[in-house]
Amino acid sequence: MESTIPWSEPQEIAPDTFLIPNFAPGGPDLLLPVNSVVIRGAEPIIVDTGAPLHHDAWIEKVFSIVDPIDVRWIFLSHDDGDHTGGLIDALAMCPNATLVTNFFSVERLALEKPELPLHRMRWIEPGGQFVAGDRTLRLFKPPIFDGPTTRGIYDSKTAFMWAVDSFVSMVPEIDAVFDVHSLDHDFVEDQMLSMQSLVSPWHAWLDPATYRRHVDDIEAMGVLTVATAHGPVLTGDGINRAFNTARRLAGQPIIPGPGQEVLDDLLAQVMAPAPVMAPAPA
Ligand SMILES: [Fe+2]
Ligand SMILES: [Fe+2]
Repeated sequence: MESTIPWSEPQEIAPDTFLIPNFAPGGPDLLLPVNSVVIRGAEPIIVDTGAPLHHDAWIEKVFSIVDPIDVRWIFLSHDDGDHTGGLIDALAMCPNATLVTNFFSVERLALEKPELPLHRMRWIEPGGQFVAGDRTLRLFKPPIFDGPTTRGIYDSKTAFMWAVDSFVSMVPEIDAVFDVHSLDHDFVEDQMLSMQSLVSPWHAWLDPATYRRHVDDIEAMGVLTVATAHGPVLTGDGINRAFNTARRLAGQPIIPGPGQEVLDDLLAQVMAPAPVMAPAPA
């Protein structure tokens, strides 16, 4: 599947902060971003480790940005498979790296991965932070998340935020992942509302006022660049628009995802008889 999607190089999206882009098919003419990040400072940080589908590409892209021996931190946002694809190899290749995670991620990963090195970890809860040389990374609970272990990070030096599974939006072409402003506002808003409802359907039972205070607190950190695992990079007014999509979902009904009719259409396309070719002239 990976081979059908064009290669995309890492790109610097904030000072010393590089998006590692990968993609999966997302439907007709759409791609689902599967991003991670490398922060290349005094103590380089790998932020999430991609999906198994992209394992080889992820390794190649990440270590084109930073030498494995220099990596000091691997931040794991949560234990979902699309964020842990390169984790075991990254730990092996980066002997000087400390894994920032939490108890419950480790407990859940114990069911599917080889034993992780407890002596190379730090367990940090939302509200906590770690110092990586020339910057402090603050952990927080993102507005939208699909796993209980999820933490985002905020880089105090560059006002960069990793929002994990929040602000999800398919993109129609690869380059759109680097800048939300290359996409139509209404397209992005529709994508974020429907995809966030899939990611966090519990929004339907939220008290809007309580939830708004949480979202306000995150936005108030004062962010200049937001990257997420599954959407375009946000800057400028794109940031507030994205936060508003999260606020708007609170207390609203779940937006249904594609159902049986879509599956029937997909199967019909796959099963359609091949067109009859005219016989080649003798
Ligand atoms: Fe997730
Ligand atoms: Fe994800």
